[in-house]
Amino acid sequence: MQRFRRLRSDERIRAMMQETRVHPKDLIYPMFVIEGENIKNPVDSMPGIFQYSIDRLDEILSRVKEAGIGGIMLFGIPVHKDPQGSQAYAEDGITQRAVRFIKEKYPEIYIVTDICLCEYTSHGHCGMVRGEEILNDETLPYLVKMAVSLARAGADMAAPSDMMDGRVAAIREGLDQAGFTQMPIMAYSAKFASAYYGPFRDAAHSAPGFGDRKSYQMDFANGQEAIREIEADIEEGADIVMVKPALAYLDVLKEASLTFKVPLAVYNVSGEYAMVKAAAAKGWIDERRIVMENLTAMKRAGAKIIITYHALDLCGV
Ligand code: PBG
Ligand code: ZN
Repeated sequence: MQRFRRLRSDERIRAMMQETRVHPKDLIYPMFVIEGENIKNPVDSMPGIFQYSIDRLDEILSRVKEAGIGGIMLFGIPVHKDPQGSQAYAEDGITQRAVRFIKEKYPEIYIVTDICLCEYTSHGHCGMVRGEEILNDETLPYLVKMAVSLARAGADMAAPSDMMDGRVAAIREGLDQAGFTQMPIMAYSAKFASAYYGPFRDAAHSAPGFGDRKSYQMDFANGQEAIREIEADIEEGADIVMVKPALAYLDVLKEASLTFKVPLAVYNVSGEYAMVKAAAAKGWIDERRIVMENLTAMKRAGAKIIITYHALDLCGV
């Protein structure tokens, strides 16, 4: 008889046998920065998450620093929105100013900037729009401008989340030409059109004004296509590739990790966070244990980096 239980018999041997561990350095904490002064707005659908104005960022950045996590992912929320999303690549845009502030006051914090236009466009789509159509090639130069502008502000990494075809190659070329040959790109490669982004769109004011994102984000029924998307982004020069959301897509993550020897990230998205928080608030689940189980599963499935709103809670700061 195989006696598996020999290696489960007490805490010490179980700890030694553990194949997967989640470390603070694996985690990236997403943050919402809003224009204005003295603002700390709770996001109703994401308990514990707030929109901060730059002058209130210290409160959260000091916690990030203390937690010793891998980095932060910045999402800016501008006051002014227009069809071209001009505040996404404005020198004094909200995200550019936030990056400069953080870089100067917290140089030890690694800053990943989400590259997408939906928080900045009046129509709320991730690209340029003609009629009801979301344009691909016409969008690319704007994404490049955004990435270069944030690199100039001091961002450490660019993470394009728009799902336009060819954007990784375009951004790589734009960054290189501007002298940022050392700036890595983490591509949201297999990003599915998902109802799990609902709370995020409240937090980032980025819900599409018409239609949905299904003409550019992936159909959640498709696993093989996800592998092709990831392959294309690697060929275009992505340094890290991402699967998003996480929990319902661990099969995709696992297959990607077996197929490609490239660092993988996974995004534990807003709806996943909201479900855990809601059940925990009702006393129906043990939040800490559930979060640890979820994040460990993501690493077991092959993720190197986990982007998660639970990061600070998990680190107990
Ligand atoms: C922007 C973007 C979204 C998320 C990350 N970047 C929203 C979307 O695509 O609608 C979702 C993150 C989350 O739900 O936590 N394109
Ligand atoms: Zn977008």
